[in-house]
Amino acid sequence: MADNKVYIFDTTLRDGEQVPGCKLNTTEKIELALQLETLGVDIIEAGFPISSPGDFSSVEEISKIIKNATVCGLTRAVQKDIEVAAEALKYAKRPRIHTGIGTSDIHIKGKFNSTREDILERAKQCVKWAKNFVDDVEFYAEDAGRTDNDYLAKVVEAVIAAGATVVNIPDTTGYCLPSQYGAKMKFLINNVPNIDKAILSCHCHNDLGLATANSIEGVINGARQIECTINGLGERAGNTSLEEVVMVLKQHEQELGFYTKVNSKMLNPMSRLVSDTMRMPVQPNKAIVGANAFSHSSGIHQDGFLKSAITYEIIDPVDVGADTSKIVLTARSGRSALAFRLKNLGYDFNRNDVDALYEKFLQVADHKKEVQDADLKELAQQHLVEA
Ligand code: KIV
Ligand code: ZN
Repeated sequence: MADNKVYIFDTTLRDGEQVPGCKLNTTEKIELALQLETLGVDIIEAGFPISSPGDFSSVEEISKIIKNATVCGLTRAVQKDIEVAAEALKYAKRPRIHTGIGTSDIHIKGKFNSTREDILERAKQCVKWAKNFVDDVEFYAEDAGRTDNDYLAKVVEAVIAAGATVVNIPDTTGYCLPSQYGAKMKFLINNVPNIDKAILSCHCHNDLGLATANSIEGVINGARQIECTINGLGERAGNTSLEEVVMVLKQHEQELGFYTKVNSKMLNPMSRLVSDTMRMPVQPNKAIVGANAFSHSSGIHQDGFLKSAITYEIIDPVDVGADTSKIVLTARSGRSALAFRLKNLGYDFNRNDVDALYEKFLQVADHKKEVQDADLKELAQQHLVEA
């Protein structure tokens, strides 16, 4: 593998937008696409042009406006889909058609009532159709996660021979274990003779909560593109979360040796923009971008964190554009945290005062989920009067 750069293929505007309630209009899609480009993603999957006139025009308008990133449109292995995608992408500086078909026996029989031989022919054919319009053609072997590896290798070899520049190995149902997904990539690297002519891509769903781990395992075993979404949005339990894979690769750059060109300082602002635009809240405990990702609430953690931040934080919030770390006061908090928060409000109490205040604080905290600044001020003033 020539380079250790991992290409970030963002599919927030396609797989992410498939989430019920997350549909975007063209204006919203353009705004997000511009921000994704500024964030530093390499490929923006802008939509599925044949799916609706609105999505066609979103892909077309995004193609006109994006300067550096590749703009990609999704299709099925259907000639008309590919013609329509090519039309929507005609203004793109770097157009890519993403076409493909299901390759697992479950899809071949259950969805297409077909045979492996027929699907292999259709796979080659769709890449050839797409090649008539663009140089950059990505093929997806849908449900590759549950596809027999020998057959998958044949499909991958055939589509590369037909001109695919990128081959996507989706774990469409989020079924694979990280070791299985990694082994699948390794098998393809070792058993597809023309594999050096294409990039392998990870597209993992999160049905078992393994999408990030699977994508990282895919890269360790030879893939060089990760398909992901902001906030992990996507069908059912979602897709690989962009902020997670970017930060895993960054935090472990020394051991793994991979890099992306995403500006990590934009991760939190980007997450908020997507959440606001799609009106889809982010779970508070979400890694990197959740409201609690840099909050400390138990006494043991707070004490350690206040002595040295790295005892309980592996990422500086500044590196991911998050607000500063928070010391949250609950009935599980300790004296150091109480003293710290009082000091932030301008009360510099000595140890005996803090001990006395702590008992009163616990009484308040036992009745509240979180003790706020107003409660602290009241406790402090009362203490000063009584002292
Ligand atoms: O999950 C999947 O397999 C997909 C393909 C269309 C790439 O989203
Ligand atoms: Zn998907």
